[in-house]
Amino acid sequence: MAITIESLKKKFIRVYGGSEEDLSVYFAPGRVNLIGEHTDYNGGHVFPCALTIGTYGVIRSREDRELQFYSANFQRKGVVGVSLDDLKFDEKDSWANYPKGIAWTFALRGYQLAKGADILIEGDIPAGSGLSSSASLEVLTGIMLRDLGGFDISMTELAQIGQYSENNFNGMNCGIMDQFASAMGKKDCAIFLNTNDLSYEYAPIRLADAKIVITNSKVKHSLVSSAYNDRRRECETALHDLQKVVDIKTLGDLDEAQFEQYKSAIQDPVCVKRAKHAVYENQRTVRAVAALKNNDVEAFGRMMNEAHVSMSKDYEASCEECDLLAELAWKVPGVIGSRITGGGFGGCTVSIVKTDAVERMKEVLTEEYSRKTGIAPEFYVVDIGDGARKIG
Ligand code: GLA
Repeated sequence: MAITIESLKKKFIRVYGGSEEDLSVYFAPGRVNLIGEHTDYNGGHVFPCALTIGTYGVIRSREDRELQFYSANFQRKGVVGVSLDDLKFDEKDSWANYPKGIAWTFALRGYQLAKGADILIEGDIPAGSGLSSSASLEVLTGIMLRDLGGFDISMTELAQIGQYSENNFNGMNCGIMDQFASAMGKKDCAIFLNTNDLSYEYAPIRLADAKIVITNSKVKHSLVSSAYNDRRRECETALHDLQKVVDIKTLGDLDEAQFEQYKSAIQDPVCVKRAKHAVYENQRTVRAVAALKNNDVEAFGRMMNEAHVSMSKDYEASCEECDLLAELAWKVPGVIGSRITGGGFGGCTVSIVKTDAVERMKEVLTEEYSRKTGIAPEFYVVDIGDGARKIG
C-alpha cells in the first residue's frame, strides 16, 4: 500500500498514542547514480539523482531526554529507546543505529538537543537494493532533529553529518554521494557533484523519448561493507604510492594519460586496477555529463556501458548477476546504456531505455535472468524527485 501522510500519522498514533495535532511529517529520497561510481571517496565526480521513493518520518517532541524509534518496516523490533545522554552503537538496535548515529553526530558538532522525541519511520525503498535506504534514513533524521532543536544547518551540512555518522558510528566508510543526493536532489535533474570541494551543478535530464529503468537483481552478496572498505583502502594505498612520484591530493587529480605515466609507482597490481577505475571513471563522468549537456544521449549511454565494464573488471565490485543483467540489456535494441549502480556486489542496474523498448527489455531480462539464476528481477521505471523536506 502506498505510504501517505495520513497512513503515517495513524501508525504513529497506534504506536505512541496521543493526537495527530502535534505531529510533523518528513521525507528523504533514495537515489540512483547515473555514472561516477566509487569516485566519491577519491576526490572525483558523481552524477546521481534523487528518486521519488525513499524514507518517511513522523516526529513528536518529548519533555524528557529520550529518543524513541519505531520502524513500520521492522515491526518485530518494536520501539527502540535511547537517552540523548547515552548514544552508543549497539548491535541489537539494528536499523535504529542509523538515526542514533545522527543524534550522536549532532552532539559532537555542538548541536545539543534539549529534549528527545518519538519517531516513526517507514520507507518504500526495496530492501538491499542499493538505492540508499540508509543514507535517506540518515538525512531524514537530520532534518527532523534540526527542526526539533531549531538549529540552523544547511542541507549540505546535513549530508556531511549523515556521512560522518555512517563512517564513525556505523563503521561503513562511504563517500558523500548518497547523502548529498538525498539532501540536495532536484526534480527532473541529476546532480553533477565534484566531491573534492562539494561544488555542484544541477543538470536537467531531458530524455525526450527514453526512460530511466532500474533493474533489481534481488541479490546482495554478504560482507558488502567490508568489501567496500577494502576497495577504499586499496585506493588509499595506490594514492600513497603515487604521491611518491607526483604531487596529487586525490586520485581524481589525475587524468588517464597522467595515470598511465605514473602507474608503475603503485606496488600492488590489484591496487593498480582499483586506481585505474577511479581515475578513468572520474574522467568518464566528466565527459558523460558534457555529452548529455550536448543532448548526445547515445554517447552518455556508451559511457554507462564502459563504466559497467570498469566497475566489473578493474574494480571487481559487480557480481555475476549484475553482469548478466547489464550484458542482457546491452543486446536489446533501444537500450541506450546499462550499468550496475551504487556500491555494487549486488543490488541494481540502471539503464536508459527508449520508451518503446522498455517492455521488450523487461521481457528479455525477466526470461533470461530467471532462467539462469532462478530469480525474477524487479523493474522500476523511475521519476527524478526533489531532495529531503518536510511534507506535513
Ligand atoms: C555507496 C557509497 C557511496 C559511493 C557508492 C559507489 O553507495 O555509500 O558513497 O561510494 O557506493 O559509488
